[in-house]
Amino acid sequence: MSVLPILTAPDPILKTKAKRVELVDDRIRTLMNDMLDTMYDAPGIGLAAPQVAVSERVIVMDIGRTEEDREPLRMVNPEIVWASDEDNTYEEGCLSVPSHYSDVVRPKSVKVHYLDETGAAKEVLAEGLLATVVQHEMDHLDGILFIDHISSLKRNMILRKLLKAKKEALES
Ligand code: NI
Repeated sequence: MSVLPILTAPDPILKTKAKRVELVDDRIRTLMNDMLDTMYDAPGIGLAAPQVAVSERVIVMDIGRTEEDREPLRMVNPEIVWASDEDNTYEEGCLSVPSHYSDVVRPKSVKVHYLDETGAAKEVLAEGLLATVVQHEMDHLDGILFIDHISSLKRNMILRKLLKAKKEALES
């Protein structure tokens, strides 16, 4: 079990399209477990491998509210095979965009195909909060952050603040 450092924007790895995983092996299973430890520690409800500096198509999520109802989801090479016409708006945040939140509009439900931690092909119909989380995490695999879905004015303001915070952390 390891808690990994989380990259924050702006960072070139967060803007890079992640590679497909060819084989779900112990290396990927360890990565997914470390990502879950990192996510629970943060705390957060989703994490994508590029956020821990691994540019591969792996995401983990858990929308359970308490430690007792933990239901971790581990996905390798996830793909959206269907999305509803109906949209939903959620106020999103991101462990790589600390302290900033914004409304984002996305399809209300999506059907996702993925490989689980054993390499087996799975399908899930994600609705409500899980639909938002899985789309947000899958965006990370294509180098997209939630702030890329909002106005450039607001995005640039947030990025300037994050850059300033990074510089201050380096100088102190
Ligand atoms: Ni995120």
